[in-house]
Amino acid sequence: MESKELVSKAIEARKLSYSPYSHFAVGAAVLCKDGSVYLGANVENSAYPLCMCAERNALYHAMMEGKKKEDLVALALAADTDGPCSPCGACRQVISELLPKEAKIYMGNLKGAIQETNISELLPFAFSEDDLK
Ligand code: THU
Repeated sequence: MESKELVSKAIEARKLSYSPYSHFAVGAAVLCKDGSVYLGANVENSAYPLCMCAERNALYHAMMEGKKKEDLVALALAADTDGPCSPCGACRQVISELLPKEAKIYMGNLKGAIQETNISELLPFAFSEDDLK
């Protein structure tokens, strides 16, 4: 699947966003080796710290459908931003745990911008299970 197609799935997922407080809708899509795609959107709460981001919801969605880290090949996210939408710090940490290092990350927006990156670029020196030893 091309980056453009995965970003368009993220844009589709964005329609499911529950964001009455920020009015900032984000969508994400996780692509698996078998071609399956799992969507996520941000879900907010009146108790603001409980808001959940689109990327994490998409990754957890894939997990809850039985997908393992090694099954995942790419993640796309999109929002109505000027440039490609960048994942927040919390999502970078979760991505570094759940998405393989070599997986592609496509940051998109509604205007067709797509920037390809990976978790090593987004979160160098990440805290990981190795630090717990
Ligand atoms: N948001 C995401 O869904 N992903 C990110 O990486 C950045 C922020 C959401 C959280 C909140 O619902 C809204 O965008 C504004 O921060």
